[in-house]
Amino acid sequence: MTDSSILQLKNRATQCAKYLLDSTSVLCISHIDADGLTSAAIATQAIKRANIPVTTAFSKRLGEPELRQLTKTDYDTILFTDFGSGQIEKIIQYGEKGNFTPIICDHHQPSITPSDSPPSEFNSDFHLNPLLFGINGASELSGAGTCYFLARALESGEVDNRDLAALAIVGAVGDMQAREEGLIGPNKNIAQEGAEKGVLNIKPDLSFYGKQTRPLPKLLEYSSEFGIPGISNDSSGAIRFLKNLNIESRGNGKWKTWVELSHSDQKTILSSLVTYSISRGLPPEKINSFIAPVYELEKEIIGTELREATEFSTILNATARYGRPDVGLSICFGDRDKSLSRAKNLLAVHRRNLAEGIGLFNREGVVMEDNFQWFHAQDKIRDTIVGIVAGMVLGMDGTDPNKPIFAFAQTDEGDLKVSSRGNLSLVKKGLNLSEIMRLSAQYVGGEGGGHDIAAGATIPLKTEKLFLEQIKTILEAQLSNPS
Ligand code: C5P
Ligand code: C5P
Ligand code: ZN
Repeated sequence: MTDSSILQLKNRATQCAKYLLDSTSVLCISHIDADGLTSAAIATQAIKRANIPVTTAFSKRLGEPELRQLTKTDYDTILFTDFGSGQIEKIIQYGEKGNFTPIICDHHQPSITPSDSPPSEFNSDFHLNPLLFGINGASELSGAGTCYFLARALESGEVDNRDLAALAIVGAVGDMQAREEGLIGPNKNIAQEGAEKGVLNIKPDLSFYGKQTRPLPKLLEYSSEFGIPGISNDSSGAIRFLKNLNIESRGNGKWKTWVELSHSDQKTILSSLVTYSISRGLPPEKINSFIAPVYELEKEIIGTELREATEFSTILNATARYGRPDVGLSICFGDRDKSLSRAKNLLAVHRRNLAEGIGLFNREGVVMEDNFQWFHAQDKIRDTIVGIVAGMVLGMDGTDPNKPIFAFAQTDEGDLKVSSRGNLSLVKKGLNLSEIMRLSAQYVGGEGGGHDIAAGATIPLKTEKLFLEQIKTILEAQLSNPS
């Protein structure tokens, strides 16, 4: 990424903003995950602030049936956020049929193979996507971040949309774009703008998930990705570790959360964790990653699900992936009353489902192939969260962290969902899961796409065998020909 990439992205955002400003009625349609919700919330608020009438809707996918539905609406402009790039040719066709101007604000890979030279429509002036300008859509800018560029381009007069940076960071973090060194590329610039505006607080802190709401023993026990012997996935070990420390880890008869601890008690836990992990032979790179930049939403109450971007993104996933994107959207718009309590109920269900999904995986394990691994959840894991489970189990005991993972689950609509997850070192070796999912799905009569590191597909029932053969062939070609 260079300064000129950002400039080109901003110019494209300005062009897309012009189309919106010329509209009389806009429909913003978005994807049903944390990044999709925050994308829609950012775009919708910015359009409203520009005094253009706008309605927001969500869809699990963007296939021909959904596009056909859109042709029946009366909006003169339809803005696609956090999806659309993979379907751009179809969107153009249906836009002509339905007489609407399409605008796409996305970060997914356009539906071309990397070796193709992109057809000109990919670079149309209504298509805002970081990948068109040499910015990585899987790590440097999310859908919400792309919408933030659009929001800034929609500003005029007194309007200042920088407050929306907080939601852009929730989207990026929800899409797993924060690494050990924190957010990078334009995501990082957005976070800085949010900090300047007073909506974000960025500080190095313990990187474990759940510092705002998890009781300390759970915070430590659920640190599976760090694999600390005798603490991670070990509830009595985590309690023992805490009891051996000279800190006030309890108050009002219960365990404190991380944010309820005094600064010096936090320091004690951290240094003891480091010493303990060294003594148990944990690799230095794991220990170094105990601390990372943490993104807090400055306007949210400390100790709530909305204070830290990681937990905020989980509560959003708990709404949209369970058929209630309206609840998540209201939270993004600022409802801290009814919607938040509904979302907390959904969050309890989501957590239970994730735990059950991981339990199922632990019982049944993966099928190990030469250069990938897969498991079939049948109807035991919801299709909308099987990707999250796949991402969580990759690297756990029983999986090979150096092979991509593919997970199947049946959908309510009577087909199969496939989710795939890889890692950075595989991507460096040539892995492009988006291409694998798109081509393998096409081969069996389905559709797929996404990012190099994480992608998905929907395919007809009973095509898994053929699909797996395709994966094998394409994967072999990718890993022997690093791009
Ligand atoms: O559709 P969207 O782009 O919003 O979703 C991206 C998906 O890719 C998320 O589910 C996220 O968890 C996953 N991802 C990942 N690892 C990365 C980047 C993205 O698992 N490094
Ligand atoms: O659904 P899942 O979390 O596995 O999706 C991973 C990534 O692949 C997401 O960015 C999602 O938007 C994308 N995807 C896609 N086309 C599909 C299914 C998923 O682009 N048919
Ligand atoms: Zn996204």
